[in-house]
Amino acid sequence: MGAASINSMRITAIVPAAGRGTRLGATVPKQFIELEGRPVLVHCLGVLDNVELISAIIVSASQSETEIIRKMIKDFCIKKVTDVVEGGKERTQSVRNAFNRISSADYVLIHDAVRPFITESAVVDVIHAGISYGAAISAVPVTDTVKFADKDNIIVKNIERNGLWLAQTPQVFSYDLLSEAYRMYDRNPVEATDESGIMELQGTKVKIVQGSIFNIKITTESDLILAKLIAGIR
Ligand code: C5P
Repeated sequence: MGAASINSMRITAIVPAAGRGTRLGATVPKQFIELEGRPVLVHCLGVLDNVELISAIIVSASQSETEIIRKMIKDFCIKKVTDVVEGGKERTQSVRNAFNRISSADYVLIHDAVRPFITESAVVDVIHAGISYGAAISAVPVTDTVKFADKDNIIVKNIERNGLWLAQTPQVFSYDLLSEAYRMYDRNPVEATDESGIMELQGTKVKIVQGSIFNIKITTESDLILAKLIAGIR
């Protein structure tokens, strides 16, 4: 597809930011923790705002945090956020609530609000693959030896690591394919923690774009330490 046709695609980004951050044990939810003077969520929104191919951004938030997020968007001059919608109990529901708010789009990009080190070029790479393949995600190959253990942490077997990837965001899907996957999901719900999982289990082929190990998801206390170190060397 030529650059002109790619530029004519309408791409809406969804940023699920309704997590409670309980694993971090912090009082401030992970997406609001400040790195280099800006909340983690604002780092993500700032990058998406700068990607020309993205025309709109929808954020899902806990009801009690909707106003804080609207204020952040204003204070940090994020231009493309069209809606802040209420999130759900699970991340997939938060994404779906935002998806339901899209009025018209050719492609949907989903990016976690707690992955602040995403770069514009990585976003564009996944968008290009999403447009070529209909569905694409960022992921990194597994480099450690992988063991499967029982509930007492006794190793049962080794898992061949060739072909194993750790899924990240951004993830980009054709609006129609994701819409169809949701319709099928409603008839036959599947266990999936991300939208790629929903699409794969419904039979869609999803392309992997190799991402960066620096695109960490801030989940635990040690992730936060790592995030401060990454921020310091950028
Ligand atoms: O909890 P998890 O690590 O999967 O969170 C990934 C992203 O999903 C975070 O940005 C978090 O705010 C968001 N999330 C959400 N709604 C939930 C749970 C998580 O929007 N119910």
